[in-house]
Amino acid sequence: MGRSLEGKVVVITGAARGIGRACAVRFAREGADLALLDIAADLPGVGYPLGGPEQLGHTATLCEREGGAVLTAAVDVRDPRAVQAAVAGALDRFGSLDGLVNNAGIAAPAGVPVHEIAESDWALMLDVNLSGAWRMIKAVAPAMVERGAGSIVNVSSTAGLVGYRDFGGYVTAKHGLVGLTKAAALDYAPHRVRVNALCPGSVRDDPLVEGRMLREIGHALRLPDDEHEQLFLRDQPMNALVEPADVAAAALWLTGDASPRVTGTVLTVDAGFTSR
Ligand SMILES: NC(=O)c1ccc[n+]([C@@H]2O[C@H](COP(=O)([O-])OP(=O)(O)OC[C@H]3O[C@@H](n4cnc5c(N)ncnc54)[C@H](O)[C@@H]3O)[C@@H](O)[C@H]2O)c1
Repeated sequence: MGRSLEGKVVVITGAARGIGRACAVRFAREGADLALLDIAADLPGVGYPLGGPEQLGHTATLCEREGGAVLTAAVDVRDPRAVQAAVAGALDRFGSLDGLVNNAGIAAPAGVPVHEIAESDWALMLDVNLSGAWRMIKAVAPAMVERGAGSIVNVSSTAGLVGYRDFGGYVTAKHGLVGLTKAAALDYAPHRVRVNALCPGSVRDDPLVEGRMLREIGHALRLPDDEHEQLFLRDQPMNALVEPADVAAAALWLTGDASPRVTGTVLTVDAGFTSR
């Protein structure tokens, strides 16, 4: 069987580790060339380490081993100029863009009820988790519209569909991302550029991809470190946490040519969580 992303170029944000790395490696295995973006530095206010430059480099190495051509860039999705420059760099290097996976995100600051959220914490959460995705779409859309082809996947969350206590900023940003998905899907449908949202449930922090968001969500909820997986598991109808590879497989389907008329959809990968 042929590789499903052969000859395609995909930009992935938050690619240093976690779900971003899982998508990158899977996409490279399917033949894609990749522009891997990550802040590759810590962010004051987030309260836990973000992906580092070595982790971004490691993702690139793993993708190259799969045969993909890779460009990496340290880009904070809050910075419109850096975002535009990185996308211009990817276009320069690869000549065109077929896909974007808007995956960069933060789980903190969180852990307090809505009225206790500080102005700066609210602004930071929305800036990264919602406006960052919008900035990336602004940067890639002109080239996709001009070619009349492209696929954008916004990594939202089950927090984009239902509420979670003490996660008001995150829940608001992820619901916003679902709205942005539908609005952008309509804007670009005439140009055959598809925009879809992916809503993962609780994703296991797989050491292979060095993800750590579930642990950080647990921290914000004051769950003990060694028990958080068990506690999240209790809420899962399938009695299983989602694997980063499950999310990558869904992102692959939405990005590639197997879903040509799927746009504006919201795909949950949540082991049944939001069906209850
Ligand atoms: N892990 C889960 O349980 C879960 C569930 C639902 C949705 N999600 C979403 O999936 C995405 C990936 O999460 P993950 O679990 O891999 O987390 P993670 O913390 O392991 O990885 C997130 C990556 O995003 C990068 N990043 C953060 N802020 C950035 C910024 N301003 N600019 C550029 N890069 C930035 C980080 O450096 C890191 O490499 C996030 O959008 C998250 O909200 C995760």
